[in-house]
Amino acid sequence: MIENLKQRFPVFEKNKNLVFLDTAASALKVDSMIKAVSDCYSYEYANIHRGIYELSSNLTKRYEDARSSVSKFINSSSFENIIFTKSATEGINLVSSCLSDNYFNDGDEVLLTALEHHANLVPWHLVSKKIKIIAAKIKPTGELDYNDLLEKINSKTKLIAITHMSNVTGSITNFDDIKAKAKKFNVPILIDGCQYVPHKKLDLQDLDPDFYVFSAHKLYGPSGLGILYMKSKWIDTLGPYQGGGSMIKNVDTDSSTYLNGFQKFEAGTPPIAEVIGLSASLDFINQVGIDKIYEYEKKLTQYLYDKLIKNNDIKIYGDFSNQTSIISFNIDGIHFNDLAMLLDKKNIAIRTGHHCAQPFMKHFNISGNARASVGIYNTKNDIDYLINSIDEVKKILKS
Ligand SMILES: Cc1ncc(COP(=O)(O)O)c(C=O)c1O
Repeated sequence: MIENLKQRFPVFEKNKNLVFLDTAASALKVDSMIKAVSDCYSYEYANIHRGIYELSSNLTKRYEDARSSVSKFINSSSFENIIFTKSATEGINLVSSCLSDNYFNDGDEVLLTALEHHANLVPWHLVSKKIKIIAAKIKPTGELDYNDLLEKINSKTKLIAITHMSNVTGSITNFDDIKAKAKKFNVPILIDGCQYVPHKKLDLQDLDPDFYVFSAHKLYGPSGLGILYMKSKWIDTLGPYQGGGSMIKNVDTDSSTYLNGFQKFEAGTPPIAEVIGLSASLDFINQVGIDKIYEYEKKLTQYLYDKLIKNNDIKIYGDFSNQTSIISFNIDGIHFNDLAMLLDKKNIAIRTGHHCAQPFMKHFNISGNARASVGIYNTKNDIDYLINSIDEVKKILKS
């Protein structure tokens, strides 16, 4: 039963009445993941990939098994296409830097959208001496303007970089037409799946992007770990990104040669315990079932939407028909930060501000808004309490 899952999250033992509605920023941590990380450091720890002693070889095996678990979870073609980074942000920076070194030519176009998280904007700005950034428009409702995006794919387009699910509106991108047109012009696609992967089944072999990134900490897993899927043809031709131990074949004082495959992109001691923790959090999600999670969260979000929409003074951003787990809104006459501060006094955690999506905020002509986002520990009671508390805040601030 998903309703009983709160007991798997230790934070509620100390803070029983916490209503946590900021999962889109980072999810709370599940007990089995915390135990896996703690056990790893307590009893199993050694550096990996280089020790011939048992402790090291055992942990190396578990680390590499975790790569296979990740691959299975997203149905990628092989574990060999999974690269561990320190964050999703680093994954996109890795791709932008490597494409700039080995693929982009002056004047090439990178097509993205105005609803991206800064993590899928700034890495492209960093290489913009070489490339021209083209942004597809957003409709007044906050939905991606697919027609505009498709029109902007042409022979100069050398990459399309788009989010799979908006961290502001929860809206899910449909890639069918984008993929078809991209194929016509032979344009690779990078997808930012940070918000999608924790909520909905991902089938990478069906979606078939060139690059796909997401982060462990939004999957009830540890911080400090990102996942980058890269198609084999890019693994073979791009990189390295950083140099150091673990990614080399031979080193002399003035030159070096590098390993092939994902190892080329994993310089230095990797986030070992974090990878072990992610594996445990994926086991937990698999036990609950990602399809069940999607249904449960979709219903809960719908419940919140139906309650909020009854208020004439509340504006919800985005078209609700195609979204899940996130609702962002503003209340007439109340600053979003005042709302969040008073809700915090009632032990409710919501996120406010620009949500690292300043161009999207500009589109709506606002400096920020309030965002409630659900995870598998949330219940209808949480939503009822939020709604009652919003009513009370309105009474205080509007009287
Ligand atoms: C849509 C989206 N992309 C990228 C990121 C960046 O993820 P991270 O901070 O884990 O690197 C986030 C984080 O909130 C996000 O929501």
